[in-house]
Order: sequence, then C-alpha cells, then structure tokens
Amino acid sequence: MKIMVINGPNLNMVGIREPAIYGKETFESICAMIREEYAKRGIEADLRQSNHEGDLVDWIQEAYFKDYDGIVMNPGAYTHTSIAIADAVKAIAPLPVVEVHLSAISEREEFRHVSYAAPYCLCQIAGHGAVGYVEAADALMAYRNNNTQ
Ligand code: DQA
Repeated sequence: MKIMVINGPNLNMVGIREPAIYGKETFESICAMIREEYAKRGIEADLRQSNHEGDLVDWIQEAYFKDYDGIVMNPGAYTHTSIAIADAVKAIAPLPVVEVHLSAISEREEFRHVSYAAPYCLCQIAGHGAVGYVEAADALMAYRNNNTQ
C-alpha cells in the first residue's frame, strides 16, 4: 500500500512555531515517526511538504495518476481558504483522502473551524498531535479492507 502524506504551509516549522499549540517535536522527527509507523504496517509513505498551494493541488492529482492507495493531508492554513484543494480532492474521488491537523481546530479561532475539503474526505482527525497521521493510515487501511473483495 502506497500513501502520499502531504503537508502544507508552515508545517516544516513545527517544533519551532507556537510550541504551546503544535508541540516541541520537530517536523523532521514527526516525518521519521510517520515513515517508521507506516513501514510497520507495510505501507510505503511518500512524504511531501510545500508552502505553495499549487504544489498541493499538483500532488493530489499526481497521487491519482500514479495509482497511490490514498492520501493523508494536512493542508495547514489552506484548509480554511482553499477551494482549489477541495476541488482537487473531489476530482480524484473515490481515491480516499484523510485530513489531519495537529491541533484541535474546532477549539481554536473561528476561522479555523471551516475546512473546505473536509466534506469530501474520508474523515478528519484533529487535535491528536502527530499520532493523527498514524490514525489516518489506519483509517485508510480499514477503508481499503472494506472496499476490496
Ligand atoms: C494546522 C491547523 C491550521 O489551522 C494551521 O493554519 C496550521 C496547522 C494543524 O495541523 O493543526 O498551519 O493544520
């Protein structure tokens, strides 16, 4: 099973940015944990990060054309602004996408309560910290098991 893990703007700054919200663990160590946990599950993790909205759209499309089994994405602030990312998720249906947020976005500022893409995702996992990326992989595996004969 091959999963693309897409991280949006400023996620490379985790460990430095707002540690009270995002924790002190660096982005690099979160990526290493994701690779390790996914490998334990027999999943190949293809990790990407960009600060540019169009890169995220390109990668969502690439996951479709290159036959990935699913996407785990944390679009960062684009979650709350990007119709282009929501459209990309809709465009690749039924390829499953799980939206992940390190923080509990529903308990933060009002503008973070909206996710344009969430209605088209398999599910949203928020507020579980880095473990959310692993839970997302488990959700994709369960989806696959339920949708293959
Ligand atoms: C975030 C939440 C977003 O509101 C914020 O803009 C981020 C990170 C999270 O992982 O909690 O950059 O997606």
